[in-house]
Order: sequence, then structure tokens, then C-alpha cells
Amino acid sequence: MKRAAVIGLGDISGTHISAIRNNPNITLAAVCDTDEAKRAEAPEGAAFYTDYGEMLERERLDVVHICLPHYLHVPVSEAAAEKGVHVFCEKPMALNSREAEQFAAFEEAHPDIHMGICLQNRYNNSVEVLKSLIDSGKYGRVTGTRGLVAWCRPREYYEKKPWRGRWATAGGGCLINQAVHTLDLLYFLGGPVASVKASVSRMLDYDIEVEDTVTARLDYAGGACGLFMATNANYRNESVQIRVQLEKGEFIIMDNTLFQLKEDGSREKLAEDKRLPGAKFYYGSSHEKLIAGFYEALETGSSDYLHVRDALMSIRLIDAIQESGRSGKTVRV
Ligand SMILES: NC(=O)c1ccc[n+]([C@@H]2O[C@H](COP(=O)([O-])OP(=O)(O)OC[C@H]3O[C@@H](n4cnc5c(N)ncnc54)[C@H](O)[C@@H]3O)[C@@H](O)[C@H]2O)c1
Repeated sequence: MKRAAVIGLGDISGTHISAIRNNPNITLAAVCDTDEAKRAEAPEGAAFYTDYGEMLERERLDVVHICLPHYLHVPVSEAAAEKGVHVFCEKPMALNSREAEQFAAFEEAHPDIHMGICLQNRYNNSVEVLKSLIDSGKYGRVTGTRGLVAWCRPREYYEKKPWRGRWATAGGGCLINQAVHTLDLLYFLGGPVASVKASVSRMLDYDIEVEDTVTARLDYAGGACGLFMATNANYRNESVQIRVQLEKGEFIIMDNTLFQLKEDGSREKLAEDKRLPGAKFYYGSSHEKLIAGFYEALETGSSDYLHVRDALMSIRLIDAIQESGRSGKTVRV
């Protein structure tokens, strides 16, 4: 039985707490939030702390789940790992490439500590089936990709949690906070990206520093090209669309379903994701699967989980897109 704690009791924490609660091999030993008012919401049986340092000292934890604002991901992960506690950290892995490289070096220097990053959409059924079709080689190499994220974040989303609108605490806007999953999948499915050219803008009239709308062209190292569009300025949250063209076939993930597109214009359904109930369906439904796999890897000692190093490209892509948006030039990734 592994003893877990969750640090940060905000919007995403419930998803981690229920994944822990639904797993008979994990006990939720403690939770932590600097906001004393969250004590009343602490799950039954879990000790409540306002100081994660004190929690790490007092509890004999196996794993901490980091559900904090982005600027705290690397320092809190490192503090836990230094105490011998395994880390399961929400996306994004870091604020920027410099910090991401530092985190990856830290992971390499601590081979006994498992550090997992929560890019749960790699574990969606639709993505797993598409990835295995691509890797099978049956359809040839990838020649094109397209990722679309049309979401909506109302003014209150930033007003209630001001860290989300600031460079220093979030590291950016729709790219690093919302579309990081889709960029990660465009890399996971399409392969390494060599360069990008992008336009980065703010269309919402909110009092925030960070971008809310991005368009980018991706040039893959393998010769494919990709189009990526993400916005928080849509009128609603739509399910993400990912289209992948290969030499001998074309596939699309839309409405959480993978289809093969046929030459006659019809489409064949190949796989469907488990749907998350309620309004947050667009998060993707694979937190529980990814978290269960992380704990299984701890149990067996396997390295079969999403490492810090696996998430590096998502942050490199974000930095390159931001830089291209500022300079108007093509930027190498
Ligand atoms: N994987 C996904 O699909 C997904 C979805 C939503 C959010 N997230 C990620 O989850 C993380 C948290 O996002 P959120 O929307 O839940 O944020 P939030 O602002 O709702 O919650 C963060 C919580 O952390 C607490 N906190 C701040 N500093 C602290 C500290 N030093 N020690 C302890 N607690 C502290 C705050 O009081 C707050 O309750 C972010 O990285 C976000 O990108 C991931």
C-alpha cells in the first residue's frame, strides 16, 4: 500500500483525489494547501497541512501529487524528491525550456526517484490506437498533422486565480496551460519538430499578461508539416481535434473518437475514449489510467510511465512558438 499526498487543493485536485481513492493500492495520507480555508474540504482521513515542507517531514509519504500553479512545479518536485518521495506532477512540467532542462537533469541525477508528468491524453484510447497504427508502419510515414483547440475561458477564470494570467506564475497562457496536451500529441504522433513559425496574440479584452490565441506552422524533422491552432476565445469548450495524414491513410480524432478517413469521403470509427462526466469533458479522461500506471511502475520498479524527459519537447515547442510570435521569424526547436 502506497501512502500519497496531494499538494494544491484547487480545480484539478479532485481528479487526483478520486483516482487515488478509486485505487485499492493507495492511501490518501495527507493533503496540503496554503489556503487555510481548504481545511474544511480536506478528504476524510487525510491530514491537512498548510506547509508542504512540514508535511514532507512529518508524513512517511511514498508519492506526492503536485497540483500547484506552474511556477511551483519544479521547486516543489525537487523538494519532495530530495526527501526520497516520488513525484507525480501536473502539466506543464516547467515554466520554460531552461527550467524544463534543469528538471530533466534533476531526474537523471535521481534515478531512484520516479517523477511522472501528467500529460494524460497520451493514454486516451483514441490516441493509443492511432499511435500503434502509426508505429506499425502499415500506412507509411507521417506527412501532415493538424491540431485544433477551440476553448473558452471566461474573465472569472483569470480573476479568481490571478496566477493563470501572469508570465511569472503561469509561464504563458493558452499554449502552456490549455494546449500543451495537443502540442505534446502532435509531437508524440508526428515525431520531433525541427522548426516553427507562429503568430501569438491576445484577442480577449481581459486584464492578463499572457496570450489567448496562437496559430503555428510546424516543420517536422521527418519532412511532414503541421498546423496548430489554439484559442481560449471561443464561445464554448469544444473537444480537441487532431488530424494525421500518412502516406497511405488519414486519421482524425474528433469528439473523443478516432476515425479513419476513406477516399470516398466516408469515415470508419476505430476507437472511442472513455468520457469524463460533467462540464470538464475536454480535460480528457485518462488521469486515472495514467496515475494507476505510475503506481504500478513504482510497485514493479519498471520505467513504464511518462517521465520528465518525455515532456521536454512540449515545453521546447511552446518556447519556440512564443519566440517566433515575438520575432515573426522561423525558430528552430
Ligand atoms: N491535466 C489536466 O488536464 C489539467 C487540467 C486543469 C489543471 N491542470 C493543472 O493543474 C495545476 C493546478 O491547476 P488548478 O487549475 O487546479 O489551479 P488552482 O489555482 O485552482 O489550484 C491551485 C491550488 O494550489 C494552492 N497553492 C498555491 N501555492 C501553494 C503552496 N505553496 N503550497 C500549497 N498549496 C498552494 C492554491 O491555494 C490553490 O488552492 C496546474 O498545473 C494546471 O495546469 C491540469
